[in-house]
Amino acid sequence: MHSPNRELRVELGDRSYPILIGSGYLGTMDLTPWVAGDRVMIVSNETVAPLYLDAARRCFAGKTVDTVVLPDGEKYKNWQTLNLIFDGLLAHRHSRKTTLIALGGGVVGDMTGFAAAAYQRGVPFIQIPTTLLSQVDSSVGGKTGINHPLGKNMIGAFHQPEVVLIDTATLTTLPPREVSAGVAEVIKYGLIRDVSFLAWLEDHIEQLMALDAEIMVEAIYRSCACKADVVAQDEREGGLRAVLNLGHTFGHAIETFAGYGNWLHGEAVGTGMRMAADLSGRLGMLGEADVRRVNRLISRAALPEVPPVEMTPSDFMELMAVDKKNVDGHLRLVLLNALGDAVVTGDFDISQLQSTLEAFAGNRSPEKALGRI
Ligand code: NAD
Ligand code: GLY
Repeated sequence: MHSPNRELRVELGDRSYPILIGSGYLGTMDLTPWVAGDRVMIVSNETVAPLYLDAARRCFAGKTVDTVVLPDGEKYKNWQTLNLIFDGLLAHRHSRKTTLIALGGGVVGDMTGFAAAAYQRGVPFIQIPTTLLSQVDSSVGGKTGINHPLGKNMIGAFHQPEVVLIDTATLTTLPPREVSAGVAEVIKYGLIRDVSFLAWLEDHIEQLMALDAEIMVEAIYRSCACKADVVAQDEREGGLRAVLNLGHTFGHAIETFAGYGNWLHGEAVGTGMRMAADLSGRLGMLGEADVRRVNRLISRAALPEVPPVEMTPSDFMELMAVDKKNVDGHLRLVLLNALGDAVVTGDFDISQLQSTLEAFAGNRSPEKALGRI
């Protein structure tokens, strides 16, 4: 197939943009209608560039195409690496008529988007996400940024892309661990907004994990539809958008504790969603059978069941205290009122949170911890 077979729009007035989804069309797709000037800068990394840079270049026939290839990894999502993009733009004398192209996973996408938000006070950019996680989450919605040693994604900007091009064929080169990490975010959409999608995932999770092209396009389409709908209602996270962070408060604590890059973002979110479901159960919001249903689906996606073994409940409390959802130092979490119905709240019994943290990260050997959950 040489064109996308599904299309969605993120409706944001004059900043609306399409999400194109299909399999095997990167390299034959003409993206120049979304490029205003005559130059583009493709930003990728040392893993993705050898695989897909040539195909991406072909999307911009007739334009001058420069490239910046970054080191690969979450640990490079920082100021120093960001500066390599500005170095490239300035060395090649890109004006404010340039368009930046993010070719890679969420790390490249977030950094390129942030560079686009800041370069000459803001230039357009295009997302070509190549991991499942970036195809269903980070490439859509305009959150861009970098990490700080004291907190993940703490420096950034909202900056929407011109278009998102999703080619599921790029997933065939993705390591299985990265596929699982992406599936965690797919499951998230079913849990927060769409119980019928959750049931569909329960029926198709093995095909999804095996990268069945039709199932994958459908899962990405439904995930992006959910995200686009939430972003259209609450672009700057005044309220609703925070539900997209189910499992992320626990997950960010895990990622920061483990050291950026040691746990994948989606892996940490998978464990975090178990913890959020557990707490929702303890608070009487979710029945036991539903908590078990969440755990079973996350297990089928081959995601880790418990946080790093050295991590304690007080590590969680300390790291969760810097979460962006907190208001005036008051912890807020995304919990589940029911499957398919998430809520953001600071109104919960803190002793039940302690019980969840004890169950997942209390005095334990990994085997004991697994037995308790
Ligand atoms: P990533 O960008 O680190 O990519 C994972 C690995 O896969 C990297 O080694 C990458 O080089 C490699 N890779 C990428 N595409 C490949 C391909 N097609 N074949 C083979 N290897 C490939 O990680 P990610 O999971 O894509 O993204 C995680 C990042 O996204 C985190 O920094 C997280 O904070 C961010 N994020 C942002 C948002 C947002 O709304 N902006 C949402 C979720 C996550
Ligand atoms: N990944 C959460 C958001 O985009 O808001």
